[in-house]
Amino acid sequence: MADEHETIIILDFGSQYTQLIARRIREAGVYSEIHAYNTPVEVFKNKNVKGYVLSGGPDSVFEKNAPKGDPRLLSCNVPILGICYGLQWMAQEQGGKVAAAEEHEYGRAHLQRRVKSPLFRGLPDEFSVWMSHGDHVEVPPADYAVIGMTGKTISAIQHRQRPFYGIQFHPEVAHTEHGTQILKNFLFEVCGCCGDWTMGSFADRTVAQIRDRVGAGQAVCALSGGVDSTVAAVLVDRAIGKRLTCIFVDNGLLRKDEYQEVIQRFQDKLHLNVLGIDARADFLSKLEGVCDPEEKRKIIGAEFIRIFERQAKSLGPVEYLVQGTLYPDVIESVSVRGPSAVIKTHHNVGGLPESMHLKLIEPLRELFKDEVRRVAQELGLDPEFIHRQPFPGPGLAVRILGPVSEERLSILRQADKIVEDEIRTAGLYEKIWQSFAILLPVSSVGVMGDGRTYENVVAVRAVHSQDGMTADWVHLPYPLLARISNRIVNEVRGVNRVVYDISSKPPSTIEWE
Ligand code: XMP
Repeated sequence: MADEHETIIILDFGSQYTQLIARRIREAGVYSEIHAYNTPVEVFKNKNVKGYVLSGGPDSVFEKNAPKGDPRLLSCNVPILGICYGLQWMAQEQGGKVAAAEEHEYGRAHLQRRVKSPLFRGLPDEFSVWMSHGDHVEVPPADYAVIGMTGKTISAIQHRQRPFYGIQFHPEVAHTEHGTQILKNFLFEVCGCCGDWTMGSFADRTVAQIRDRVGAGQAVCALSGGVDSTVAAVLVDRAIGKRLTCIFVDNGLLRKDEYQEVIQRFQDKLHLNVLGIDARADFLSKLEGVCDPEEKRKIIGAEFIRIFERQAKSLGPVEYLVQGTLYPDVIESVSVRGPSAVIKTHHNVGGLPESMHLKLIEPLRELFKDEVRRVAQELGLDPEFIHRQPFPGPGLAVRILGPVSEERLSILRQADKIVEDEIRTAGLYEKIWQSFAILLPVSSVGVMGDGRTYENVVAVRAVHSQDGMTADWVHLPYPLLARISNRIVNEVRGVNRVVYDISSKPPSTIEWE
């Protein structure tokens, strides 16, 4: 999909910052892709490659199995920016001398510019940079000039004839002053990019490509109600209109009024061709008496596939399945060793493509989450929807500890709605990663009026997080907690106690199951 627009290839030598480099380049308006460090150059021959960035990495060039790039990169005339390990590999490969670390240098360092260089155009003579490395270049290869030093360390070099640059510090991290400008200089001064990557251009281009690919074919899409599958569906709808059928299943595990609101949004606001399936009874009967969380997930997943498959078959010949897979699902840049580490194929609706022989359309597989939100904005989706907090696929089933029943679902829905309303009223909804209620499988004694009660306990959870991988509990103001607690106990029959979850992830998880 990315073949026509100008592209920067990032070769990943295993740095924790590789994804960040891709982000920074895209933010500057240039499309970038991450590939494994040893990808042969011919893989890129059909792409409009304007330059390569060699990322940092945890290894030392002196190790026996140190990762090595394709040496032919260094005989092309395409611009290269080596960062940290990337620089060291380039320097060693071209006959320079890399010195092993006596001690590691981490954190802030002071760079002093030497000779003039397009990489540092517009920058002051001295600025702070962020280092995280062991080895360094002691003698640059022949034909290279030193363009920056940090103390006695060579920290930036440039080839005298070719567009090759290497820097020891990390321009992608916020601690490097002018880091963004250095990356922009590489993109615009060195690679000659014009910056054709905008979310508007992405949407137009993607719609045209889908139209070309699908022709007169039929496609089907399983909508989850979340932003990713919705944006994917809207793009495909723009391309092929009513030949896309969307399926939205009410599994009985959704939040209060969610099914009606989502269907209404899809039909009336987005004009999608959507089939709403009421499968509440199927899911709830299969979940009856089930306590184990993983068992619940398996049952819900299998039931979803069964219903989706039956509906899709009833549509007649369908060739394509639309999925909202994102870029971080596609690329795995953490480990650079071994073929399994290179690309991970991720299916949001596990099992579907294999059993149904459908070809995948994944219009968002080049994008990060915040880029999807920008496309959603371009496509005119309402902001309230775009900034919805994440909600797990198995829904309220993993927030009702113990068996799921209509009665317990009803209690949790009411409590959850109160949490949402109060968090929104306090202006905190969009500042919090997730905030919700959990129904515990214990009863506790209480007193209401003159009588003793023995009823359910509801837990409230609110967490800050960047990506759901780690999380910290939110220090909600006491008056807000008091309002939530009072309202739940007074308004939801069957609950006489509310507790607040003050655990972070790790060691806890965000969901309780
Ligand atoms: P945990 O509980 O593992 O959750 O800290 C991390 C993030 O993932 C969501 N989550 C799920 N999403 N299916 C999903 O689609 C699931 O089975 C599932 N379990 C957890 C959770 O809401 C949080 O955002």
